This record gives sequence, structure tokens and C-alpha cells, in this order.
Amino acid sequence: MRFLAACRCQPVDATPVWFMRQAGRSLPEYRALRQGGSILEAIADPETAAEITLQPVRRYGVDAAILFSDIVVPLVAVGLEIDIVPGRGPVLGEPFSRPADLDRLRPLEPGEDLAHVLETIRLLSGELSVPLIGFAGAPFTLASYLVEGGPSRTFARTKVLMHAEPALFAELLSRLADISLAALRAQVGAGAAAVQLFDSWAGALSRAEYERFALPASRRVLEGLADLDVPRIHFGVGTGELLDLMAAAGADVVGVDWRVALDEAGRRVGAGRALQGNLDPALCLATPPVVEEAARQVLKEASGLPGHVFNLGHGVLPETDPGVLAAVVDLVHEETAR
Ligand code: CP3
Repeated sequence: MRFLAACRCQPVDATPVWFMRQAGRSLPEYRALRQGGSILEAIADPETAAEITLQPVRRYGVDAAILFSDIVVPLVAVGLEIDIVPGRGPVLGEPFSRPADLDRLRPLEPGEDLAHVLETIRLLSGELSVPLIGFAGAPFTLASYLVEGGPSRTFARTKVLMHAEPALFAELLSRLADISLAALRAQVGAGAAAVQLFDSWAGALSRAEYERFALPASRRVLEGLADLDVPRIHFGVGTGELLDLMAAAGADVVGVDWRVALDEAGRRVGAGRALQGNLDPALCLATPPVVEEAARQVLKEASGLPGHVFNLGHGVLPETDPGVLAAVVDLVHEETAR
């Protein structure tokens, strides 16, 4: 399988490609299925979640599927009242601020708490022709939703808490690490062939802050998967200054957004690790010649890497024309066939 081979820096017959948020609102067949009902309800129904996972594989011919779920699903499963508000993101009624809030985070028991997600993965194992990527939120990114009470641009509450009460923040991240690790191990047990840890908002941190406040918990998650022999992808947005640290946290593949060219990212990450990325999702709204040129540029910058998984630098934007993504998949395969 070329996706797993590229993750392991082994030879491939062509560069593998998949897209973050490939399942979702850019697909008419997704919108048709999702009519009415919340996204959390769709995730909780194994038949529906499996179908949504398969839709982009059929339409685009991507080399990997990603489980249709969300990073807040394990938090909802341990009893937090989180809504995913369309156009906004996850919102928690009562944000975390005090030591007593830690009691709201009981340990995850995946067999029971995530039974529906594990059933989705089992359904998919019989249907998929490509590897399935399981995923979880990194402790820092999850904590930011709990402390802010929702999406944030400044992460001010999170930063104040982590500097003012480092012991409380460390305990919060440690509990979130346990939850994410348990969720990922269970996903692999049910059939996921690779995992991605999404630290989407780690780019809000300085290197010193990342090393002190975020990295130890992410390392616990990634190193806690080492015995499972599945590639571990570690991704964040705006993390150009953190790429070496994110690699050292225990990643086999480092995800890169569009801000750093992949050849430069490869120098920052160091030898022996594959990279994933990094076409700007905004450019997928441009005309075909513009998208093609941008995709070729990514391939050129990736040509000296020991392993490359083609992807966007962040998720597919909802207004993207699916035909453009299908053309990108074909271009990547054709240009890199060997
Ligand atoms: O196709 C895939 O990539 C798999 C499905 C997936 C979803 N969320 C489904 C979803 C994945 C991998 C995620 C991860 C996720 N969720 C992240 C990390 C990735 C990233 O984008 O950085 C984050 C930060 C979240 C939290 C979250 N959930 C946000 C910010 C939003 C967007 C809110 C909005 O409406 O704009 C969601 C909702 C969400 N999760 C949608 C999907 C398809 C869109 C809502 C819908 O379809 O109703």
C-alpha cells in the first residue's frame, strides 16, 4: 500500500495522496446524507459514519480514508456537554478554569464509551480498499476548547491558565493525553492502519511554551502507540517553528501547513522522517491551471524527501469544487508514477 510505505520512507509506485476533511461539506453526497440531524448524531450511527468515510474514497481515488468522527468525540463520550455549532466549531457550556473541573474528565473506557466508533471501523474494514487513518486531538488543542469554551483566535484564557497555574494545566493535559491515547489504541485495535494526532492550534505557542506546556503530553500519546507498529502522523497549523519538536515528540510523519516549503520543512525535521502536506486549501478555489501549478510546486519541493504523503496544508474548505480535488489526485499520481 503506497500510503503506508510512504509513511515509513519505503519505496512507492507513486506518491500517495489524501485530504484532511476529505469527508464533509464540499461533497454533495455528504450534504444529502447529513440533512437534518447534528454531526455528532451522524458520527454516532456506524452505518452513516462508515458511508461518509467511504464517499471521498470513491469519488477521488485517494490512497487513504480518514474515519468520519471529530476530535471532541472522546470528550463527549466521557460526559462533557459539547455541541458542534455549524460555522463555528465545538462549544462547551461551562469552560474549565479550576482544579475541581478536572473531576469532569473521567478516564475513557473505549470498549463502552466509543462502542459506536469502533463499530464504524469494523464495518469499514470489510469495505475499504485503502488504509484507514484513525485520529485524535492532541492534548493542547483539546484543552484549548475546554478552557476557551469554544474556538478562539488569541487563546488568551488558555495561555493565562498555563502560565499562571502550570500544575493544573499539566494535570489537565495529562488526563487529555490518557483519553486520546486510549481512543487511538482502541481505533487501531478495531482496524485503523495509521493514526494522526491533530494539534491544530499548537502554532499559537512559542517554542519555549510548546516544549514546556504541550509537548510532554503529546509525547505520552505518541510514545504510547510505539508498540502498535502503525505510522503516527503529527500535524498542526502554523507550526513551522515547531516542526523539529513535533517530530521529536514521537512522529513517523510530520504534517506541514502551506507556510513552509517541504524542502525547508525536511531540513527542520531532520533525516529519516516522512512529511505530509502541503497544498494551500485556499488555492483549491482557483482555476484549474492555478491549482495544477501549485500542486506541481509542492511535488517539486517534496522531491528530495525520504517519504512524502501529498495532502493539503489544512482541511478542505467547504466551498471547494470536488472536481478540483479529483484532478489533484490524478495529477499527483501521474507526475510521480515510477
Ligand atoms: O474528513 C475528515 O477529515 C474526517 C473527519 C473530521 C472531522 N473533524 C469532521 C467534521 C476530522 C479529522 C475532524 C478533526 C477536527 N475537528 C479538528 C482537527 C482538524 C483541523 O481542522 O484542524 C478540529 C480542530 C475539530 C473541531 C471542529 N469540528 C471544528 C473546528 C469544526 C468546524 C465547524 C464548522 O462548522 O465550520 C468541526 C465540525 C466538523 N467536524 C465538520 C466535519 C465534517 C463540519 C460540520 C458539519 O459537517 O456539520
